[in-house]
Amino acid sequence: MIRINEHYLKLSASYLFSTINKKVAAYEKANPGADIISMGIGDVTRALPQACIRAFHSAVDEMAADSTFRGYGPDQGYDFLREAIARSDYQARGADIAADEIFISDGAKCDTANIQELFANDIVIAVPDPVYPVYVDTNVMAGRTGAFENGRYQGLVYLESTLINGFMPALPKGKVDLIYLCFPNNPTGATATRDQLAQWVAYARDNCALILYDAAYHAFIRDDSLPQSIYEIPGARDIAIEFRSFSKTAGFTGTRCAYAVVPKTCAAWDARGNRHELHGMWNRRHTTKFNGVSYPVQRAAEAVFSEEGQRQIREINDYYLRNARLISDTMTALGYRCSGGANAPYIWIETRMDSWQFFDMLLEKANVVCTPGAGFGRCGEGFIRISAFNSYENMQAGLKRIRAVRSS
Ligand code: MLT
Repeated sequence: MIRINEHYLKLSASYLFSTINKKVAAYEKANPGADIISMGIGDVTRALPQACIRAFHSAVDEMAADSTFRGYGPDQGYDFLREAIARSDYQARGADIAADEIFISDGAKCDTANIQELFANDIVIAVPDPVYPVYVDTNVMAGRTGAFENGRYQGLVYLESTLINGFMPALPKGKVDLIYLCFPNNPTGATATRDQLAQWVAYARDNCALILYDAAYHAFIRDDSLPQSIYEIPGARDIAIEFRSFSKTAGFTGTRCAYAVVPKTCAAWDARGNRHELHGMWNRRHTTKFNGVSYPVQRAAEAVFSEEGQRQIREINDYYLRNARLISDTMTALGYRCSGGANAPYIWIETRMDSWQFFDMLLEKANVVCTPGAGFGRCGEGFIRISAFNSYENMQAGLKRIRAVRSS
């Protein structure tokens, strides 16, 4: 008899954003013609930058002639893109990362989900709370946790991010092996200073631990004193893998391109104490299970690093940050405590009531979709996340409706 992976039974029925989509679809079915404004999932709405579009078109034209056509590309990604990333995103900021330490993929969600395959099943894992659910769910699927009780999976170490600690979790009290960090943070919008990141790097080095650093939102950092990459911290390349994406940086949510940086100095150990380079292991996994991102998409991504591309993505991301300011200012004026939004596209808002109830209220009374904080973990209860990814006009309209609900 074919049997299932029973660890899946520990998961909640559907993924957070699928649950939200289902609720919204049910509401729309019951209320045909409802004009819903999305401030929920972090999905971009602005067109791809012109520099990317031009590169995309010209790469598609290359595919149209036998002489310039390309079949399978290099599994790890084309050198032109890996070199542009290493130069612009790392070396230009003083981070010692080489092109051949970069693996091009179709998403940071997939990379952060897949990376856990490299590690033993009995390691101790620390995740922030609230947390991007992918980090947790994929470890549940792999059997690294116990049952879900009181809003938490047994066996995980939860790093609490609260109003009291400014959404910057304290270092684990005991010893953990694998640590997920995300800055600028999804969902709280918190950012880490150089000193704070240095403490995490020191912890990982002292404990032979590894940090999985999700930097998908780095392009929203406007405070130059904040690190954009963990590799800006000395010693990090021995203990951290970093994930980045063109999704939020350059509007590629529907186009798909991202990358993982696995430095050659980054290692983990087998049960006998032998050291293994994670770069080789990730290369083995990547080449076995992935056939690369399409050539035109990689050319479009490369264009992000041209002078024109950099100017255009900054303009687009400034646009979303203007939305973020509007959200933060409006919700604050309505009496809600807000954080994030200054160097991040997410605003984390204290609701002082059950976050799913608040979600339902906004959906039903304002036809606005937000993300309930409880969906990100126990510490998210009593909060919602509003995303800045929509048009300024839709933001104004959505916030006007929230104001009307609040004063009714
Ligand atoms: C979010 O809204 O948290 C993200 O867009 C989801 C994702 O990137 O997978």
